[in-house]
Amino acid sequence: MLKIAVFVSGRGSNLKSLIEKIKSDLTTVELSAVISNKSDCPAINLAEENDIPYFFVNEISKEKFVTFSTLKDILNSKEVNLIVLAGFLKKIPEDFVDAFENKIINIHPALLPSFGGKGMYGMNVHKAVFESSAKVSGATVHFVNNFYDEGKIILQRCVDISDVENPAEIAERVLRIEHELLPDVVKLFSEDRVTVENNRVQIKFK
Ligand code: GRF
Repeated sequence: MLKIAVFVSGRGSNLKSLIEKIKSDLTTVELSAVISNKSDCPAINLAEENDIPYFFVNEISKEKFVTFSTLKDILNSKEVNLIVLAGFLKKIPEDFVDAFENKIINIHPALLPSFGGKGMYGMNVHKAVFESSAKVSGATVHFVNNFYDEGKIILQRCVDISDVENPAEIAERVLRIEHELLPDVVKLFSEDRVTVENNRVQIKFK
């Protein structure tokens, strides 16, 4: 059983697609916890509706507040073996990242290594892609290290944007791809098909 924790900050559409995919298809994946730095976001409502335990890492006054240090112990006690950042906007402390080396993944709404880095989130990404006049965009799932969007790339999928008229259209097309890509990557982990060899991520395709 692959036990995952999903970190969120907002809308939670990637969390939703993961929940649906786990229910319908990923029988060897358990969503053990949802972590948020915001108590009043739609993603937390989703966790509540689906009876998934949740914790807050930023909201000191909240009942379910935990520090990153306590969170480390909670996730270890739940035997979580994969942490999925799905729109989590708070920087993760270095010692937390180090404690879960090659066990934290993030989804980014563009084709890294372009259009990543500090400040590159949400519509900022799609505006930059639009202004660059790129004809393709896409989504990237990568390991998290201590530098924004610089961890090793695990899987990417692209989408044609040659006919878009604004950044919002790019965002819409990319999000559709994200909702397939992230569950696909979680599935690969659940089947033990992701390894890091010679500093490259290898996917064992059947
Ligand atoms: C997604 O575009 C994801 O790539 C980025 O943040 C957004 C989160 O969207 N990291 P949602 O909260 O999953 O709807």
